[in-house]
Amino acid sequence: MKKIIRKVLRFQGMPVVPGDKSLSHRALIFGAMAKGVTKIINLLESEDIFSTMRCLEQLGIEIKIKKEREGQKKGPNYLSVLVNGLGEKNIKEPDQVLDCGNSGTTMRLLLGVLASKKSFIRMKGDESLNKRPMKRVADPLRLMGAKIELIQDNFAPLTIMGSDLRGIEYVSKISSAQVKTAIMIASLSANGTTQIIEEIKSRDHTERLLPHFGVSLEVTNNKIILSGNQKLIANTVKIPSDPSSASFWIAAACLIAGSKLEIENVSLNPTRIGFIQVLKRMGAKIKIDQQGEIPEPIGNLQVTFENLRGVNILEKEIPTLIDEIPLIAIVATQAKGPTSLRGAKELRVKESDRLEAIALNLKQMGVEVELFEDGFKIEGPQQLNGAVINSFHDHRIAMAFSIAGLVAQGETFIEEAQCVAVSYPSFYETLEELTSA
Ligand code: S3P
Repeated sequence: MKKIIRKVLRFQGMPVVPGDKSLSHRALIFGAMAKGVTKIINLLESEDIFSTMRCLEQLGIEIKIKKEREGQKKGPNYLSVLVNGLGEKNIKEPDQVLDCGNSGTTMRLLLGVLASKKSFIRMKGDESLNKRPMKRVADPLRLMGAKIELIQDNFAPLTIMGSDLRGIEYVSKISSAQVKTAIMIASLSANGTTQIIEEIKSRDHTERLLPHFGVSLEVTNNKIILSGNQKLIANTVKIPSDPSSASFWIAAACLIAGSKLEIENVSLNPTRIGFIQVLKRMGAKIKIDQQGEIPEPIGNLQVTFENLRGVNILEKEIPTLIDEIPLIAIVATQAKGPTSLRGAKELRVKESDRLEAIALNLKQMGVEVELFEDGFKIEGPQQLNGAVINSFHDHRIAMAFSIAGLVAQGETFIEEAQCVAVSYPSFYETLEELTSA
């Protein structure tokens, strides 16, 4: 599907942003590992989450879906699900290969679950996922005792043969919440203690959500200590709105003169809102109103248009805004002065090579970009011209360049725009609502 985006003169409203993707994956997986029924309120309905649900069902987990209005004044119904957890020891051997679709989180987190299952389990992904690195997860799980076979020792399709696991001490050179979470999940059924140290701390949803399922763990700065042989206890989880999905609207409100935007019940987890912090440094007017903290800080945002200036983004900030970097590039084109971002070579192994996708598409729109192996520098302001955008089947590229199209001269064509369904199926309906007079 090709989507046409035109310049708009108005951007206003209160979008209901869907549930957080990272928390949705984790709530489903922890619910499956716990014994008893876990209720998840406001689960994200998207392709990636369906991949996790399908794989869990193949592992013998029963998941019941219902739509309800619980606690919500307006907007669409929440999707609530009941996960009938079997207790992590009783997860059954699937008859067929587990298909993780486009979802790296599904594959990497489930590897952590399967590392202790003494059966031979195969996993695959789509064309993009089969090109993404898996050795980073396989290495620590192998140290714990699992056997994992990868194509060229790095890629899916893969096979895992779990075993009795032992705790490890692991220093992770890559800042990746998926790697960290896979080790943490495996450590819960290991003998002995596991210690994980990250050089730069990644998003901490797992550290926050596991105690909600009765797990005890110790977190100090970048170090996590977990003792083995712990059982999870089923619980109810309410998922806040996804700050990465909210970021598209926040960026648009910062780029379109006269904008006013309000978003409620969004996760304000500090390891996720680096994009908001960077925008504030650029001069954006964003009011944050924290309302609660279970299992994550949650609150409301108000954004009004303001002219922006370029900034320097630090390497230690990268994990807190990793999925928003395509948007940062677009915002940078409209800010006054240079914006530079380095230390983000992880972007080359996301759903697409996002640094390449950003540079190529911005050039198509007439923007000069200095591209590095691990980042970019953009001197603003530069005019964006409508162009044909190659989404590389990557949801975040399609959505970020749709926002660029709202301020570009002429028409912007987003190719393969249906890929937004990976994380935000209602993206274009909400875009329509916020831009129609
Ligand atoms: C995620 C972690 C990040 C992020 C991805 C979701 C998670 O990936 O980019 O969209 O839910 O743990 P890495 O762990 O590879 O950094």
